[in-house]
Amino acid sequence: MEIDLRPTTTDDLDFVIATENDPVNRRFVVPWSREQHEIALQDKNLQHWIVQGDRPTGYIILAGLNSPDQSIEMRRIVITEKGQGLGRRAIKLTTGHVFDQLKAHRFWTEVKQFDLRTQHLYKSLGFIEEGRLRDCSKGPEGFETMVLLAMLQPEYEQIVG
Ligand SMILES: CC(C)(COP(=O)(O)OP(=O)(O)OC[C@H]1O[C@@H](n2cnc3c(N)ncnc32)[C@H](O)[C@@H]1OP(=O)(O)O)[C@@H](O)C(=O)NCCC(=O)NCCS
Repeated sequence: MEIDLRPTTTDDLDFVIATENDPVNRRFVVPWSREQHEIALQDKNLQHWIVQGDRPTGYIILAGLNSPDQSIEMRRIVITEKGQGLGRRAIKLTTGHVFDQLKAHRFWTEVKQFDLRTQHLYKSLGFIEEGRLRDCSKGPEGFETMVLLAMLQPEYEQIVG
């Protein structure tokens, strides 16, 4: 399936919230209320996107659009139809947008330590592991360690040639 990114609208929030609260996704993200998503749609520091194929297949939230450090965060990505390469394509599209359109110097994300699938994906796309934030958040199953991954603009240029 071909995919593209488009801005999320309030009409998409039923899909976003159902996806986020699906047990297959919930433990990998920090779920937001509908109100938090509604506020995010208006927040100039965030970009909230639907991953759109011939139907919505996921969503992405970027943060740090106002960053004076040109440091953009991939706050969240969820893909509903897993294991078909859609997550890889969506992260590639987002990385291109972040460096080419948003002129970021740094694109970073935090992934839960147990989430080896997402770590594999980012690393295989050229993101570098920069460290681990030990027990930095408290989830339903106890304290969680986060893995910090990032790509810098010169590294992106090397990858795209
Ligand atoms: C993480 C996520 C976005 C990836 O999207 P996807 O469409 O399933 O990913 P893809 O099919 O493009 O690629 C998955 C890759 O992980 C690999 N993988 C799958 N399970 C794995 C595991 N347990 N350990 C290591 N790698 C794994 C696959 O082999 C594939 O790599 P490859 O292309 O080198 O073979 C999606 O699975 C998802 O929404 N997960 C729940 C939410 C989440 O974890 N979000 C990220 C944190 S915000």
